[in-house]
Amino acid sequence: MSKNSDRRSALDFMPVKKNLTQLRRAAAACEGCPLFANATQTVFGAGAAAARLVFVGEQPGDQEDRAGKPFIGPAGQLFDAVLAEVGLERKAVYVTNIVKHFKWIPRGKRRLHAMPTAREVDACRPWLEAEIAAIEPDLIVCLGATAAQGILGREFRVTRQRGEICERPGGPSVLATFHPSAILRAPDEAARHAMRRGFVHDLKSAAKFLQRHSVAQRERHKKRV
Ligand code: URA
Ligand code: SF4
Repeated sequence: MSKNSDRRSALDFMPVKKNLTQLRRAAAACEGCPLFANATQTVFGAGAAAARLVFVGEQPGDQEDRAGKPFIGPAGQLFDAVLAEVGLERKAVYVTNIVKHFKWIPRGKRRLHAMPTAREVDACRPWLEAEIAAIEPDLIVCLGATAAQGILGREFRVTRQRGEICERPGGPSVLATFHPSAILRAPDEAARHAMRRGFVHDLKSAAKFLQRHSVAQRERHKKRV
């Protein structure tokens, strides 16, 4: 079958060896969808290869596009503050996005974030799947609806199912919460505080889940030896 541009995806750029180093190198050359053309670089995930917890955002923003690292701009700063508040270390987790190139529209001198389409999410998803397969975390936390729907399906509603741990056969459990950018964009102070509290609550649930999980794993291990 000829490779017409509509059918292209990250799969066309997958390396044979799929450890994080090889994946990152291959993703740097990805042209699996049109988004590479207007972005500075691929922003691959970053963090611990042995992470028990993987965070998935939507796509890099303006600052991430320039620096080549995920969640370092305003949303990343809020994210870091909340991680510290719930006792999670950024360097012990892995942070990535469901789409790895910055999509934007010009507004004067600024580059405004634009939502990735379902097709772009589908084209890019193999990178995320490969990152998760390489890391084998216990829990994935989706930041916002794009990541949640990309992983849990289009019917998933963050507004209704936020903070629930979804166990999935054969894969890590998933919890979806607010996107830190949505908290920053809240219409007023009261709404912003309420969302931030919800976000803190959900990340605490994630941390507790990991604690329970590692205790259960140690128990299983003890029984075996
Ligand atoms: N928003 C995201 O979803 N990801 C980033 O890396 C930065 C902002
Ligand atoms: Fe490849 Fe994803 Fe970038 Fe599209 S957004 S070019 S699929 S890395």
